[in-house]
Amino acid sequence: MTKLIGISGSLRSGSYNTMLIKAAARVMPVDVEFRIETIRDIPLYDGDIETKSGIPPAVTALKNTIAAADGVLIASPEYNNSVPGVLKNAIDWLSRPPEDSKRVFGGKPFGIIGATPGGFGTILSQNAWLPVLLTLGTQPWFGARLLVSRAPTVFGEDGTLTDKKIEAQLRSYVEGFARYVRSYQSS
Ligand code: FNR
Repeated sequence: MTKLIGISGSLRSGSYNTMLIKAAARVMPVDVEFRIETIRDIPLYDGDIETKSGIPPAVTALKNTIAAADGVLIASPEYNNSVPGVLKNAIDWLSRPPEDSKRVFGGKPFGIIGATPGGFGTILSQNAWLPVLLTLGTQPWFGARLLVSRAPTVFGEDGTLTDKKIEAQLRSYVEGFARYVRSYQSS
């Protein structure tokens, strides 16, 4: 069984990226155990907190969950043509302390997808994640791209994915990502 973690980079109750990661769960191959984790409990990074109290419990818990997983799928919003601060903050905490970063991120397959009400499908956010994923020593998957534009027309009132073309693209994306993670596991 391949274990994947899903993370939405938005805290908003009506988040399209959270809808997207939930939609990914619904089209996952049957041999994938997909768990959606939250970044909600991760505080703002503060080096003083780290020095005085160490790594916050919510950060340690998510670090351990990622370390135990075979891969991570992130649905990230785009803010000001780049990555959203809340998710970058979470990743920054998860990379602490540096000597433990390899255990969490080293060689870990990562996939980045995203949704926006705009017309460019979070392409600049996805690009902006690349130096971060590179720095952390992850193994990003470049086999496909999922750019969800005009998100309000793609999801229904109840938050489910109603656009059949996007659903097919999402299914193909997660199947490809799962195949990549499996090939990486067996190599
Ligand atoms: C945005 N939004 C946005 N969208 C986009 O496609 N490119 C961008 O550069 C930005 N910039 C931006 C900055 C800030 C500060 C906010 C709050 C929003 C719009 C964004 O895509 C929209 O709010 C999404 O709905 C956010 O994702 P969730 O919360 O729906 O997952």
